[in-house]
Amino acid sequence: MADLSRAISIEDLRELARRRLPRAIFDFFDGGAEDEATLRDNRAAFERVRLLPRVLVRVSQVDTRVSLFGGEARLPLAIAPTGGISAGRWGAELALARAAKAAGVPFTMATPSAFTIERVAEEVGGRLWFQLYAVRDLAFREKLVERARSCGYEAILVTVDLPVSGKRERDPRNGFHTPYSPNWRNSRDVIFKPAWALDMLRHGLPGMANLEGYRFSTPAGTDIVTAVGREMDADLDWEYIKRLRGLWPGKLLLKGVERPDDAERAAAIGCDGIVVSNHGGRQLDGAAATLDALPQIARSVGSKLTVLLDGGVRRGADILKARALGAQAVLTGRATLFGCMAGGEAGALRALEILASELERAMRLCGARSPAELGPDLIARNP
Ligand SMILES: Cc1cc2nc3c(=O)[nH]c(=O)nc-3n(C[C@H](O)[C@H](O)[C@H](O)COP(=O)(O)O)c2cc1C
Repeated sequence: MADLSRAISIEDLRELARRRLPRAIFDFFDGGAEDEATLRDNRAAFERVRLLPRVLVRVSQVDTRVSLFGGEARLPLAIAPTGGISAGRWGAELALARAAKAAGVPFTMATPSAFTIERVAEEVGGRLWFQLYAVRDLAFREKLVERARSCGYEAILVTVDLPVSGKRERDPRNGFHTPYSPNWRNSRDVIFKPAWALDMLRHGLPGMANLEGYRFSTPAGTDIVTAVGREMDADLDWEYIKRLRGLWPGKLLLKGVERPDDAERAAAIGCDGIVVSNHGGRQLDGAAATLDALPQIARSVGSKLTVLLDGGVRRGADILKARALGAQAVLTGRATLFGCMAGGEAGALRALEILASELERAMRLCGARSPAELGPDLIARNP
């Protein structure tokens, strides 16, 4: 097991994950679409923002708690949905859910998980949200919604930025297929990753438990990521979101909104929130960095629904910047995923601890005692 106490930043956890995983799997997690311009820009947008700290504020006591959808979160953060992750470490979904529960933040379960909606609810519990991929089979899709309801999930996040899968070029270059199985092209890679290989030998390669029984329209044997990507309903539209609003009594969020007019429409339909997201740069390469898209969206709908943001959050100060620019909270995809790959539940918890302690420090340094005091006055405007 990696020495997690030596990981002092999310980048350190990323490096531990990189060392543990076969390259094809690490790249599947780490990479983005095409030239990865959006992937890089999500980070660059955070790095461009400069702060104007308030001084001489009594900051010995700071409180990072926020209210999110009527419940408390210990940080302005929830864990983003990430599918296919048990290919990197068996039980990754359970480990992330446990870490989220221990850290007092919500966990979002992805549709393409290796564990069912029911199992995560029964074995872990905590504040659970469910990410819905609009698979073409309507009856199956709505059964997923019903299953989430009967297991007490608080929210559904409908992913709206994936009418088709993005073109992720690292995967075919690495010969990456799911389920991932060793072959002559990747055997060298696998031999040098004994911890990962033993884990997979012990537990077997993961499937997609929530989609068990689903009749894919792709031929049998198609790799799962491709099959799931092709199974998306490319005709998903606002009418369906209205229908879902009628079906689902819990909180309803759209994940993958980048335009104020779409955000307005979500509010008009009665959605409870949106996630300003470009899927972590994995879908449309060239899509705007989420932090750049945020302020306009927050100005237009911030008083009507809850605005969350994901993409590129790697530092506690990034959470502060997102709050200052109008998000209620952020979701973390890779930051917590790398922690989980480095050390399972303890690694994911380490990632959350790092982000929490960096956020607290940045709040003290900015003269802010609570997330409510993180406002646009902290942002330096370009001259
Ligand atoms: C390995 C991986 C798998 C993902 N799987 C899903 C998914 O199944 N559903 C979804 O809506 N988003 C998925 N995402 C996108 C994340 O929910 C989130 O939008 C993105 O990771 C945020 O960017 P960040 O990784 O820079 O934090 C995935 C992201 C990664 C890295």
